[in-house]
Amino acid sequence: MGPRAIKDGVYWVGAIDWDRRLFDELIPLPDGTSYNAYLIVSGDRTALIDTVDSSMTNILLRNLRELDVKRVDYVIINHAEQDHSGALPAILNLYSDAKVITTSRCKEMLTDLLLIPEDRIWTVKDGETISLGDKTLEFIHFPWVHWPETMLTYLREDAILFTCDLFGSHLATSDLYATDEMKVYEAAKRYYAEIMMPFRTVIQRNMEKIRGLRVDLIAPSHGPVYHKPKFIFEAYQDWVYNPPKNLVILPYISMHGSTKAMVDHLVSALIKRGVGVQQFNLSRADIGKLAAALVDAATVVIASPTVLGGLHPKIVYAVHLISALRPKVMFAALIGSYGWGTTVAQQITQMLSPLKIEILEPILVKGYPREETFKALERLAGEIFERHKRHGLI
Ligand code: FEO
Repeated sequence: MGPRAIKDGVYWVGAIDWDRRLFDELIPLPDGTSYNAYLIVSGDRTALIDTVDSSMTNILLRNLRELDVKRVDYVIINHAEQDHSGALPAILNLYSDAKVITTSRCKEMLTDLLLIPEDRIWTVKDGETISLGDKTLEFIHFPWVHWPETMLTYLREDAILFTCDLFGSHLATSDLYATDEMKVYEAAKRYYAEIMMPFRTVIQRNMEKIRGLRVDLIAPSHGPVYHKPKFIFEAYQDWVYNPPKNLVILPYISMHGSTKAMVDHLVSALIKRGVGVQQFNLSRADIGKLAAALVDAATVVIASPTVLGGLHPKIVYAVHLISALRPKVMFAALIGSYGWGTTVAQQITQMLSPLKIEILEPILVKGYPREETFKALERLAGEIFERHKRHGLI
């Protein structure tokens, strides 16, 4: 894909990575991703906003060649992570007069991560501007989306907010703009869950900085550009600020069917009471879908058999992830079957302790569940219903 004009003198010059299926060797990318870079040309001044992953340097260079870019004055680096800064050494090599513009924290990271010479980097304070003739770039420090050095860049005259990872989506698409809102919503929500959710409270504070700013376009560094910024602003409003929904997510593993019988009963009992449920069989679940479901969940019920005295390793992985993603979850419970002894309850209590949530009485059964187990599961469904109701979620 070649360069694409967004406004007069503003071009998308990034790269679409249709084939990438894993990010950070952890996050599944079912729909690929893109590394968006933007070129701003104003009179004889030129600024490049972010670069691309080093694996796609040749595509960025080809796009700049196609636009006949002979000179780059500034390379704005909103974020040091290599999927956006990876091509920076090549850009600085090609455009030997170009200066990098970034935060002081990002300068340190660029010298550490990419060995960029310090004298090529200018640092900007929060709110500082540079003029490109008839276009003005304003830099808005916006730390912790999702690294400590991040900033946004605002092109005043065109009201374009370049947000790097913030508001992004891992979506490889030929659509320059977020025209398929359903598809983009799902991808952006998944992205928010995996990348931004752990920093929800910091994002809440920082969002005040851009409230009231006139924004006609949001140009993130992954996924399509938002030509209707209200769409993604409203989605973030819900994900970041609103209380969770009347939803239980239930990640489970069952080796011989006993824990699964408990899961089936609890799910029916919850549905009967009007509580929404999403269950995830972790032996083959898409962990990104689980993360996205956590954005809305008020309760997590973990269902694990006991293996070698403790939680099944796949449950350990999921619970660690849930704890690290810091969702808005308010309640958790544990159910499961064991053969002769178990420490799963203590493990769950310890692993979920960073979330500071209420952990309900576990329901653990030796062997296959019996009548009293199913009664206990009914009680648990009732307790979850009551708690959701008490918090106004039903
Ligand atoms: Fe898309 Fe934090 O890099």
